[in-house]
Amino acid sequence: MSDLSTTYLGLALKNPLVPSSTPLSRSLDPVLHLEDAGAAAIVMHSLFEEDVRNDEQMIDRFLVHPDSFGESAGHLPGGRDYLSKLDTYLEQIQAFKSRLSIPVVASLNGSSLTGWVELGKEMQEAGADALELNAWFMPGDPKVSGEALEEHYLSLLQELKTVVSIPISMKLSPFFSSLPHFVQQAEKSGAAGISMFNRFFQPDIDLETLSVVDRVQLSSSTDTLLTMRWIAILRGRTTMTLAATGGVHTAEDAMKMLLAGADVVHMASALLQRGPQALKDVLEGLTAWMEAREYTSVAQLKGSMSQQNLPDPSAFARAAYLNALNSFTPPAGVMY
Ligand SMILES: Cc1cc2nc3c(=O)[nH]c(=O)nc-3n(C[C@H](O)[C@H](O)[C@H](O)COP(=O)(O)O)c2cc1C
Repeated sequence: MSDLSTTYLGLALKNPLVPSSTPLSRSLDPVLHLEDAGAAAIVMHSLFEEDVRNDEQMIDRFLVHPDSFGESAGHLPGGRDYLSKLDTYLEQIQAFKSRLSIPVVASLNGSSLTGWVELGKEMQEAGADALELNAWFMPGDPKVSGEALEEHYLSLLQELKTVVSIPISMKLSPFFSSLPHFVQQAEKSGAAGISMFNRFFQPDIDLETLSVVDRVQLSSSTDTLLTMRWIAILRGRTTMTLAATGGVHTAEDAMKMLLAGADVVHMASALLQRGPQALKDVLEGLTAWMEAREYTSVAQLKGSMSQQNLPDPSAFARAAYLNALNSFTPPAGVMY
C-alpha cells in the first residue's frame, strides 16, 4: 500500500486531497460525508468582508440606534437573538472541530485594508488549524499600479500575521505580472502556503433582458492546465506549501498536479457536481495509479515533473507556446 501522506501548511495529512472552499461546508453533514470519503482536511466556505460589514451596519442601525426606526424596530431581532455572520462562522468552526478528526482551515475573503483581517484572530480562537486568505481586489483605477496592488495584498497578509499564530495560506488569482516575485514576497511576509488559483465568476450579459447576470460556472478537467504549469514553475522556487485548485475532477488531474509539485490538491466543482463520491474515486484512482507504477509514496513522486526536474525546463516556459502553435493542425474537413 503506497504512503499517500503529505504536509500542508505544516500539518501532517493522511493524503493530498482537500476539499476547497465551497458552500458544502456551510453545514456539518456534507463535511462529515467528505471526511468519510477520505478528505484529509477541509477548507471552509469564506467569511466575506462584505458580510461582516453588513453585520456591523445591522448592529449599528438596529441595536445601537433602535429608536430611529420607529415602529419597524419592533420587527427587528433583539440584541440577544441576532447572530451575525461572524458568530455563525465561529460556531461552525467549533462544531467542525468537535466532530471532525481532520484539520479545519477557515477562509477570510475580502479586499479593503482595514477592519476585517483581524477576524482571523477569532477564527484561531474558535479552533481553526490554519487560515486561507483570499484577498482580491478588482483593479479598475488606472492610477493604481500593479506594484501598489501587490503591496496592498502583502499588507493584508502582514496585518493578519500580527494577530494569528496559525499558518496562513494565500489564495491567489492568476493575474500577476510576475507571479514568482509575488510568491517570494508573500513567503518573506510570513505566508506558509499558496493556493492557486482563485476561480473567478465573470459577469455575463443576458441578451434577452439586456442585464448583467452572475452565473456560477463549474470547472472541467481542462482548467487544470494553468494551475499545473504554475505549480511546476514555482516548485523549487519556494519552500511554502503549494495547493493546486482548479479543474481537478479525476485521479489523472490530481496526479498531474502532484507530479508538477503540488503538496495538496483541492477539489470544488467535482464535489458540487458528484458529491463525496468524486473524492473517493480520485483517492482510489490515485492509489491504483501509484501502485501500478510502483511508487511507494506521494513524497517520491511529488514535483518529479516540476520545471527544475525536467531535462528541458523550457517545456513549461515560452518554448511550449511556440511548439504548440507550430504543431497545430487544423481539423480535417473544414474549408478555409
Ligand atoms: C459555488 C462555489 C463557491 C465557492 N466559494 C468560495 C469561497 O467562498 N471562497 C473561496 O476562496 N473560494 C470559493 N470557491 C472557489 C473554489 O474553492 C475553488 O478554488 C475553485 O472553484 C476552483 O476549483 P474547482 O475547479 O475544483 O472548482 C467557490 C467555488 C464554487 C464553484
